[in-house]
Amino acid sequence: MNSSSSDSATPHRRRPRYSGKYPKKFSEKYKEHRPDQYPETVSKVVASGKTPAGSHLPIMVPEILEALALNPGSVVIDCTLGYGGHTEAILPEILPDGRLIGLDVDPIEQPKTERRLRELGFGAEVFQVRRSNFAGILKVLSEEKIEGVDALLADLGISSMQIDNPERGFSVKHEGPLDMRMNPNKGQPASAFLEKVSAELFAAILEENADEPNAIRLGSFLAGKKFQTTLELAASIRDYFPQMEGEEQNLTVRRVFQALRIEVNEEWNALDTLLRHLPLALKSGGRVAILSFHSGEDRRVKKAFQAGVRSGIYQAAAEEVIRAGAEERRANPRSIPAKLRWAIRA
Ligand SMILES: C[S@@+](CC[C@H](N)C(=O)[O-])C[C@H]1O[C@@H](n2cnc3c(N)ncnc32)[C@H](O)[C@@H]1O
Repeated sequence: MNSSSSDSATPHRRRPRYSGKYPKKFSEKYKEHRPDQYPETVSKVVASGKTPAGSHLPIMVPEILEALALNPGSVVIDCTLGYGGHTEAILPEILPDGRLIGLDVDPIEQPKTERRLRELGFGAEVFQVRRSNFAGILKVLSEEKIEGVDALLADLGISSMQIDNPERGFSVKHEGPLDMRMNPNKGQPASAFLEKVSAELFAAILEENADEPNAIRLGSFLAGKKFQTTLELAASIRDYFPQMEGEEQNLTVRRVFQALRIEVNEEWNALDTLLRHLPLALKSGGRVAILSFHSGEDRRVKKAFQAGVRSGIYQAAAEEVIRAGAEERRANPRSIPAKLRWAIRA
């Protein structure tokens, strides 16, 4: 075989092989992981309404830019850096003299994103990265000696890279350890949580985190059981409801996964803390935009913004939730459940 490597001291490493035209395994999606080398492959994947492996399509970018009304020199916090898609769109708007700090708890994806954005030419004078939960926003601001920011974005939940990588244990479709931690170095995996939780508590979690209609029955059935993998849990839920239509079974599996993910990552605690600290993080006239993906998140954001307007903390807030347009929903189905709300600090 003709090696393209010019470095004869480097042992040749075989490129991962495709198993067919449409690779199924995450690790086989070789070309999608190298968008700079294979732009055509990536464009084809996007045109087919899918997210290229190893990346994340940012949602409602024009709507978010409009809500944040950025200017050259703006100081911005992206609370949920992820793949950096929103950050990449924000950075040119705040140059020159602007500054954006990107937070994320994910120690696996965050360094890749930092590298990607540095390669796009964003230096440390304009773009900084912090490994932090957004619940710790006030600590970050004080350490960075920032009194208040002009704009803040939170795009809640998990990224496509996290969902699509079976090793992370978020996927209902691919076999992987039942983990679901955004930061695998902290807390306990979903499998350990499920093994220890009581039936009553798990039923309440299923209801609170995912509006699960069969919360009580599923709570008794699943709590205390030991599941090693994602597909083991998914199959067990399907088997428990043999009379259900396949689509309803799938929705039930998704709701259980969502409930577990929220619990394992203490997502309510983080969001409630962020919403409480937001007024202290924003300058007067500073703007916040939050993208949420399910009813529990949106309820919290809506309530906090409405209460803030009533008490005079915010001078204005979105009256109606903003949804992705038809074109974006078609091109990126992950935008379908997204709900955007904004507010402006008084
Ligand atoms: C939906 S993705 C963000 C995608 C990003 N806007 C983009 O354009 O690529 C959510 C990201 O937020 C991170 N995240 C979720 N909750 C967090 C929290 N409480 N604090 C910090 N990061 C969080 C996740 O690890 C994930 O990378």
